[in-house]
Amino acid sequence: MKALVLLPLFWVFLWVLGSWVWRKPVNPSHLRATVALLLGFYLLATAFLGLLWMSRMELPVFDWHYLMGYCLLVVALWHVWLEWPRLSRFCKHPGEEVFPKWFWLVTGASSLVVLLVVFGKVGLGEKQRFAEGMPAAPPMPAPQPAASPTVAAPVSLVFGAAARGNDAARQAVAYMSRESSASLGGLVRRGLFFGPKVPSVHHVEGRPLVPLPPPLPQLGSGLSAALPWLARPTSSRCGAPSLAEMATLLFAATGVTEVRRFGLETVYLRAAPSAGALYPVEVYLVNTDRGELAPGVYAYVPEKHALSPLPGSADGSAWARALGMPDGAVVGRPLLVFTTVFQRTVWKYGSRSYRYVALDAGHVVANLWLTAAALSWPVQVTPFFSDPEVEALLGLSLEEEGAMAVAVFDWPPSSPRVIPAFAEVRVGGSWDREELTRLSHKLTRWQWAMGESWVWQPRVLATAFAEGGPDLLSLIKNRRSYRRFSLEPLSSGVLASVLGRVGALAPLVPGGDGVEVRVVVVRDEGLAPGVYRWHPAEGGLNLVRAGNFGRALYRAGFSQELLQRAAAAVVFSLNEEVLASAFGRRGFRIGLLTTGMLGEVVYLAAGEAGLKACGVGAFADEELSSLLQLSAGVSPVYLVALGKA
Ligand SMILES: Cc1cc2nc3c(=O)[nH]c(=O)nc-3n(C[C@H](O)[C@H](O)[C@H](O)COP(=O)(O)O)c2cc1C
Repeated sequence: MKALVLLPLFWVFLWVLGSWVWRKPVNPSHLRATVALLLGFYLLATAFLGLLWMSRMELPVFDWHYLMGYCLLVVALWHVWLEWPRLSRFCKHPGEEVFPKWFWLVTGASSLVVLLVVFGKVGLGEKQRFAEGMPAAPPMPAPQPAASPTVAAPVSLVFGAAARGNDAARQAVAYMSRESSASLGGLVRRGLFFGPKVPSVHHVEGRPLVPLPPPLPQLGSGLSAALPWLARPTSSRCGAPSLAEMATLLFAATGVTEVRRFGLETVYLRAAPSAGALYPVEVYLVNTDRGELAPGVYAYVPEKHALSPLPGSADGSAWARALGMPDGAVVGRPLLVFTTVFQRTVWKYGSRSYRYVALDAGHVVANLWLTAAALSWPVQVTPFFSDPEVEALLGLSLEEEGAMAVAVFDWPPSSPRVIPAFAEVRVGGSWDREELTRLSHKLTRWQWAMGESWVWQPRVLATAFAEGGPDLLSLIKNRRSYRRFSLEPLSSGVLASVLGRVGALAPLVPGGDGVEVRVVVVRDEGLAPGVYRWHPAEGGLNLVRAGNFGRALYRAGFSQELLQRAAAAVVFSLNEEVLASAFGRRGFRIGLLTTGMLGEVVYLAAGEAGLKACGVGAFADEELSSLLQLSAGVSPVYLVALGKA
């Protein structure tokens, strides 16, 4: 392809050089005509590719980011207009033109520069800048296969209670983080076109559907009561929820809360936010017992608020094995499995997509978990399971869809769990050549292995139980991403209350320790502008650097207008060392999932406090890292912008 694009340039060069060597000068008017044709060709091809790209990415045709391109077109038109007399003279008297001296040298030299740049011998700054400036990337020791983008297939590692982290795992986490990063010079690092667009809905045409009862009108409890309940469940219920309650849980997790029309397209906006409104997350109900529903596996179909029966297995013992739980632990209890369909996001966001699908899943999981707590259902949501077994039980194709979390009912969320030793499933082939989202999922797959079990112990902090505030279901239903913030400052104390909600959940979820929370305060009545670090255990903010960083945040966020208007932004970063030490390569997946859950809490807590919020996953990692002054091995993955309406 590159050679085809360059061919016309070389053809001109060879033609001019050949004519100079054979002392048969090229007719100048032919040369001018050829160069003019080439200019037109490259200009039109660039404009066409730009339009194609914009329509693929569903971007508006007019946007100030394309100002360079518009200017180029205007100048090209000016040029034609100014050169018009000369051009018409060419056509009338072609012989009068003089062949420009040394033209062959200029064509040759410029073609050579293009060739070297395209084939990577001369960097234009992007790659080098990335490598030099990225504070998060630790130096890679040469012999480690996991860290080297060109070396394939690291060995499978078995972890037990004692040593779960190792250097290879840390470097694999750093690799996934680095490869999915974006920079101001280019939105994504790997590739340009990412495969076909696939619809964000389950294909249910022609399949039988089980209609669900409408969701309950309210839960009778707010966010400030549901969060502490997770840590200390009181008067919890047992058995399995009724169908009406299950319908409410599914609706609160990912139900349709608003239908909007964008041109010809109808978008079903959901309870949880999703990058680009692409909704890659699917929720499956595994009904292991006969109740109001026949035992079996069902997919939730949000657009119809119904269940679609699927051929998967609802064998409680097999699910208990897949979850590493004692035999019989799941029998008679329903399970909810959260998966993600990669291509729904990959076609648009390419190498950024694993971050987005895992963050999206975290948002959905948090809604489910909090709603269950508000209904006093003890549910443990776990990212610990054997991937191959869950995939086999649901009949998932590894290239299309991956499991992210499983919710087990009638299991206190704060109780410790004994988890078998696990091994990372071996990944063959060259990491560099595989599509990054699927690769990241494969790299973070677990299977149970021989070895010592270990215990997952959530930390239970004493969080005050508070009544009042809006009903949680109405918070979820009315949640929307908001971008046109007013320029008013945040009221004093409101940020502390939002962060307090985050702090109530973080210690309870796996990976919570590996997710660092910082806040960029731009306008707040009680806090001076600056970057702060949030310490959930102490419930306090530490000033990292003072100053107004609104402009820097806007720049790091690819000049998205919402960031220019935001009064504050809560930024989540993964501590690769902490996550890899605890969970091996899967630390990357768990860290993202947890971040999504905490991000959902920020959205809901903002709604509770009368604020507006918008999640942002598109930013230049390097710029944001240096704005936050992150140390090596800590990389930003998500932020939620806050402000008043
Ligand atoms: C992981 C993630 C990344 C997102 N990134 C951006 C972003 O960079 N810019 C933006 O304007 N919105 C972003 N959003 C918000 C989505 O565009 C929004 O959730 C989606 O359009 C659905 O609308 P809703 O949140 O109002 O339901 C993001 C949301 C998520 C969950």
